[in-house]
Amino acid sequence: MPHRSTLIGAGTYLPERVVGNDELATRVETSDEWIRERTGIRQRHLAGPHETAAFMATAAARGALDDAGVGAGEVDAILVATSTPDQAFPATAVRVQAALGLRTGFAFDLAAACSGFIYALSVADALIRSGQARTVLVIGSEVYSRILDWSDRGTCVLFGDGAGAVLLRAGPEAGPGVLSTHLHSDGSGGDLLFVDGAVGRRELSGHLRMNGREIFRHAVAKLASAVDEALAANGLGQADIDWLVPHQANRRIIDAMGRKLGLPPERVVITVDRHANTSAASIPLAFAEAVRDGRIRRGDLVLMEALGGGLTWGSALIRM
Ligand code: UT7
Repeated sequence: MPHRSTLIGAGTYLPERVVGNDELATRVETSDEWIRERTGIRQRHLAGPHETAAFMATAAARGALDDAGVGAGEVDAILVATSTPDQAFPATAVRVQAALGLRTGFAFDLAAACSGFIYALSVADALIRSGQARTVLVIGSEVYSRILDWSDRGTCVLFGDGAGAVLLRAGPEAGPGVLSTHLHSDGSGGDLLFVDGAVGRRELSGHLRMNGREIFRHAVAKLASAVDEALAANGLGQADIDWLVPHQANRRIIDAMGRKLGLPPERVVITVDRHANTSAASIPLAFAEAVRDGRIRRGDLVLMEALGGGLTWGSALIRM
C-alpha cells in the first residue's frame, strides 16, 4: 500500500558568528542601504572553521529528531542537499550518519544548488511512497562563505551559512504530508550561476559566479509557473494556500511570488533578512522557524518553491 510522507519534526543550525551589512561595507564597495533595498538582507551567519556542512547538518538533524521525539536508530535514510560538502567523498550524509551513531540504512548527498532541499524532499518522498524507507532525514546544509569571492560585491553580500532538517515518516495515504513535488532543470542556463572549480577539474577550489540580473528574471518567471503547476496538479487554488515558504534569495523575488499568489505578507515566511541566501538550507530553516514559533499549524497547506544554479527549480505542496 502506498504511503504519504508526513513531516514529523524539524531542526536547524546557524553558525555562531553574525555579520551585518556594515561589516561587509568595510571589505567591499557596498552599503547597508544598497544591500537592504536590493535584497532585503540585513545580516548573515558565517561559519567558523569547525562549522562544516556535516557539522551543521548533524546539529540540524538532531534538532529534527528531538522535535519528533524519534530516536536516531529509527532512521532508514539520510539525504543531505549541499553544494558545499566537507569532502568530495564520502558524502556529507554518511558523516552525519556516523555522527548520529547509525550503522544501518543508507545515506547520500544530492546537489541541486538552491533547489537542493526541494529535490531531496522529492527523492525522500519517493523512497517512502515506494516502501524503500519509512523514516527519512532530509537536510539542507551549506557553507557558501567558503566558495564566495570576497572581493566580488555582486555576490559576497548575498549569501550566508546554515543548515535545516526535516524528519519524514510514512503515514496513511489519506493523512497529512507531502501532496506533491515537481522538479525541473535546464542545463542551458548552467553558466548563469556556477562555481568555477571542483575536484573533478584541475582547480581544487572555486568561487561562485552569478549573472544576478538574468537569474532574477528566470526566478520570477519559472517560480510563477512552478506554483501554478503545483496547485493545478492537486486541484487546488491560490486561496487554499496557508503559507508560502520560499527559497530565500531576494526579498523582491519572494514578494513577487507572494503577490502572484494573492497572499498577505504575513502568510509568507521570511528569513532572508537575518540569514541571507543559505541555498539548500534556506527552506528548511524558514520552515522550522515558522513551525517552532507556532505560525504553521496542523492542517495548514504549505507551498515551498526554489530556483537555483543549474538552472534547477521546483515546488513542494505539503499538508501539515
Ligand atoms: O539562490 C539562487 C538564486 N539567486 C538569485 O535568485 C539572485 C537573483 N538576483 C538578485 O537577487 C539580484 O539580481 C541582485 C541582488 C544579485 C542584484 O540586484 P539588481 O537590482 O539586479 O542589481 P544589478 O545587478 O542590476 O546591479 C545594479 C547596480 C550595478 O551598478 P551599475 O552597473 O548600475 O553602475 C552594480 O554594479 O548595483 C551595483 N552593485 C552593487 N552596489 C553596491 C552590485 N552589487 C552591489 C553591492 N553594493 N553589493
